[in-house]
Amino acid sequence: MTRLGILLSGRGSNFLAIHRAIHHGHLPEAEIAVVLSNRMDALGLAAAHELGLPAIAVAANGCKRAEQDAELVSLLHQYRVDLVCLAGYMRLISPGFVRAFPDRILNIHPSLLPAFPGLHAQRQAIEYGVTISGCTVHFVDEELDHGAVILQRSIPVEDGDTAESLAARILEQEHRAYPEGIARVISRNYEVQGRRYVRIRPQAAHTPSA
Ligand code: GRF
Repeated sequence: MTRLGILLSGRGSNFLAIHRAIHHGHLPEAEIAVVLSNRMDALGLAAAHELGLPAIAVAANGCKRAEQDAELVSLLHQYRVDLVCLAGYMRLISPGFVRAFPDRILNIHPSLLPAFPGLHAQRQAIEYGVTISGCTVHFVDEELDHGAVILQRSIPVEDGDTAESLAARILEQEHRAYPEGIARVISRNYEVQGRRYVRIRPQAAHTPSA
């Protein structure tokens, strides 16, 4: 079993999509070990609590990011988390946190990276006038919305789309893409070559020669 640690700051629809995927047997090798938030009032945290999952707020309380992240890392170790999934976690994580889980932190972003990193990606896409957008599941490194891409899903931007209507359609894709990205990472059938996520065949079972 791969134990997932979810970090969120808001409504938590991606967290719930991951939870549903596990519940419906689409992620048979994963379980959610803990849900953490930097916001006590995050709806996603309340939802996790209602589902009976360990749900913990680690408020900043004026402490520095590195200190808050050290507390998060310690909780993730305490809950024996193997894979960290940022799901609408609205705080840049510190280098120490990234190093504590090398290649084991994922994020989902509502654009086709490297286009439109950062906040309000859907509004940025509308304002730029792109005709295709989508979402990206990627590894997290020390730069914002930057690590190697695991998968992307694209959708057309329709005439008359607003940032809100585009965000809603991208979100539908996110809810499919994130569990799929997690499944790919859990399978370990990949290598990261530079920035490139490259799928490899599962290792064939060793058959002794006659
Ligand atoms: C999503 O659009 C995700 O791509 C971005 O933050 C939003 C979180 O939404 N990183 P939710 O809290 O999962 O509903």
